[in-house]
Amino acid sequence: MTGRRELLTAATASLRDAGVASPEHDAAELLAHVLGTTRGQLVLLDEVPGDRAEAYVALVDRRARREPLQHLTGLAWFRHVELRVGPGVFVPRPETELLAGWAVEQALALGEAGAESPVLVDLCTGSGAVAKALADEVPGARVHAVELDESAHAWAVGNLEGTGVDLRQGDMATAFEDLRGTVDVVTCNPPYIPLDAWESVAPEARDHDPHLALFSGQDGLDAIRALERRAAVLLRPGGVVGFEHADVQGGSAPAVFAATGRWTDVRDHADLAGRPRFTTARLAR
Ligand SMILES: C[S@@+](CC[C@H](N)C(=O)[O-])C[C@H]1O[C@@H](n2cnc3c(N)ncnc32)[C@H](O)[C@@H]1O
Repeated sequence: MTGRRELLTAATASLRDAGVASPEHDAAELLAHVLGTTRGQLVLLDEVPGDRAEAYVALVDRRARREPLQHLTGLAWFRHVELRVGPGVFVPRPETELLAGWAVEQALALGEAGAESPVLVDLCTGSGAVAKALADEVPGARVHAVELDESAHAWAVGNLEGTGVDLRQGDMATAFEDLRGTVDVVTCNPPYIPLDAWESVAPEARDHDPHLALFSGQDGLDAIRALERRAAVLLRPGGVVGFEHADVQGGSAPAVFAATGRWTDVRDHADLAGRPRFTTARLAR
């Protein structure tokens, strides 16, 4: 048996030394994971059995080598839904919950205005996080999602099972020919990091998220340009699109939409820390 406090203190110090952004949180989350409990319940336990302590130290060591926490637990939370994640799929980020929340509000407002089954499309769905949240929070919505990468698509198949989401594998640039001009809300968290910003990316993302999920041309805007073209085809007149971008793209990302003349109400939105985070726009009528 080893003392819980002693284990947590040593793990937190090791993660802090390794440059992990939230060492206390991650140390507690990993201990809860090996004990099959929750962080909140840890205080009820003073001693950790030897085999669990060994398993814990091994996981903390992997986290200190900057494996993502969610790859070690196999789980990620996104709004009110749980997702299975691991190598081969992008780990959903808390900041993307803002984009999903905006889409939920748009879809619910359509329902209040009398629309029966809003049609929602999530491009670049990865693990299926945004699509699953939409299906969870917008009763009656018809949710469609597409992912290009075979491995990420396989994770999404598992995560979206039983949700009713129409998941397809393919390129967002040509996806959903059958939905042309009928979609109410398009969401997309595309790859948006400039190719030469490789060194500035945190090791957890750079070494463990798929590169197709991160990088998008010299200025990071290639996928956003493709999104602009496809959203204009898929949306009905007056339909809306929302997409995430890097905090340094608060001017350049909306400009991709504003420049074409196809959109009204092009607006950028900040995250809780005040950083530019996502853009929304309405297809002109
Ligand atoms: C930043 S990740 C976002 C994943 C998920 N939407 C989320 O927020 O967690 C971008 C995703 O887009 C996928 N992707 C990249 N280019 C694509 C394309 N042309 N068509 C469809 N999916 C694409 C990547 O494989 C990756 O899963």
